[in-house]
Amino acid sequence: MARILIADSDDASRQILRETLEAQPKLEVVDDLDEGSELSQLIGPLNVDVVVLDLGLRGVDAIDLAGKLRGQHRALGIVLTGDEPTFDDLRAALRAGADDFLPKPLETDTAGQNIAEVAQRVEQRRALLATSEFGSGPVHAKVVAVYSPQGGVGKSMLAANLAVVLARESGRPTVLVDLNLQFGDIDLMLNITPERTVAAVIQRMNQLDADLMESFLTLHDDSNLKVLAAPARPEYADTITTFVVEKVLQVLRERHTYIVIDTPSFLQDTTLTALDHSDEIILLTALDLLALHNTKTALAMMQKLRYGPDKVKLVLNRSNADVGISPEDVEQTLEYDISAYIPSDGRVAVTSVNEGEPFVLSQPKTQIAQSIRRIAYQVMDREAEFLDESPEPVGPTPSGGGGILGWFRGG
Ligand SMILES: Nc1ncnc2c1ncn2[C@@H]1O[C@H](COP(=O)(O)OP(=O)(O)OP(=O)(O)O)[C@@H](O)[C@H]1O
Ligand SMILES: [Mg+2]
Repeated sequence: MARILIADSDDASRQILRETLEAQPKLEVVDDLDEGSELSQLIGPLNVDVVVLDLGLRGVDAIDLAGKLRGQHRALGIVLTGDEPTFDDLRAALRAGADDFLPKPLETDTAGQNIAEVAQRVEQRRALLATSEFGSGPVHAKVVAVYSPQGGVGKSMLAANLAVVLARESGRPTVLVDLNLQFGDIDLMLNITPERTVAAVIQRMNQLDADLMESFLTLHDDSNLKVLAAPARPEYADTITTFVVEKVLQVLRERHTYIVIDTPSFLQDTTLTALDHSDEIILLTALDLLALHNTKTALAMMQKLRYGPDKVKLVLNRSNADVGISPEDVEQTLEYDISAYIPSDGRVAVTSVNEGEPFVLSQPKTQIAQSIRRIAYQVMDREAEFLDESPEPVGPTPSGGGGILGWFRGG
C-alpha cells in the first residue's frame, strides 16, 4: 500500500481527492492537511510515499515546499494540483522536482490512476536509490553496532527499528547484519524468510565480492532494508570466524551507506571483531543494577581498547521505568554521558514483535518510535533536522533517584 498525504486548503477538494484515492486498491490516505506549515515534518513520521500538494495551500509557498521536500526526501512522490495552472506554474513545478501536475477541477476517473502511477515510480526510485550506482559520489559507509553485555535489554528491538528508519529516511542503501550467530531473531522481528544466510557466505569466501554479497541478502520490502540473516541452525555458528566477519563488513562497506549490526551479549571473538570494525557502538543499558554493573565493565574494556566518546554512545532503554534509579544516577555511576533515551512501552514493543512489523512503521507516532528516529538522525549526523512527532515528546524522565546506588558508585 502506498501512503498518501493530501494537503489542500479547500475542504471540498480535499474530500473529493480522499474519496478518489481511497477507491484505488493500492493507495491509502494517511492524513489530510488544510494548511502547510507543518507538512514537511510529517513526511518522515507518517512514512509518506506520495504527497499531493495544492498550489493554493495556506501557510506556505507550495512550489518552494515541493523543492525542499525533493531535497530532503529523494524518493518521495510529489504531485501538485492547482486551478487553471499557467505555463509558468507548470515549469516551476517541474523545476521543483514534482512528479506530476493535476489541474483542477480534478478528473476523478484519471486522478486516482495518475497518483497510483507516481506511487509506483516511488517504489522503483527507492529500489534504485538502494543500489549505490544511483547515489551521488562514492559510498561513505558508517558501521553501527548495537551492543550490550546484558541479555534481553533490547538490542535486537533497537537494531531492527533503527535500521528500518535509516533505510527509509536516509534513502541510502542500508543493511542490517544479525550477528547473533546461534540464536538470531531479526528474521522474526521483520517477518522475512531468508533464503540464504551468513552461513552460505563461507562456502564462497574466495569469490566474495559486492555483487555476490547481494545474493546473500534478504530484502525487507516495506523499508528497502537489506538483511544478512543469522544461520538457520545454531550448530553453524562455529563456522563463522572473525575472518568471515571482517570480510563481510569490508564487502558490505562497498555498497552500503549504513551498516547496522545486532550483536549477542556474550562477548565472543566475532562480536569483538565487529565492535572493532564499527565506526560507532551503541552501548545499550537499562535502569537496573545488574545492567549497570555489566555496562561499567564493558565501558572499562572499551576505554582500554581506546574507543573514544565519538565511537561509544551510551543509550538508556526503558528510561522512564519507575525503579528508584534515575538517568542522572546512571550517568554518575558510569561516569559517562547518555546520548539518547528510549522509553518503556510494553504494548507497542510486544505487538510489534508478535506481528513481525517494526513499530517505527506500524506505530510511528509513539514516543518509543520517535526516540529511535532521533537516534537514527544522530547516526546520520542530521540531529538538527529531527522533530519529535509524538503527541508528548520524550526526554529523560527521572524517577526516584537517591541512595540505592551509593554503594555501587565506589567501584
Ligand atoms: N523500551 C522497551 N519497552 C518495552 N519492551 C521492550 C523495550 N525494549 C525491549 N523490550 C522488550 O524486551 C524484550 C527483549 O528485547 P530484545 O530481544 O530486543 O533484547 P536483546 O537485548 O536483543 O536480547 P538478547 O540478548 O536475548 O539478544 C522483547 O520482548 C522486547 O520487545
Ligand atoms: Mg537480541
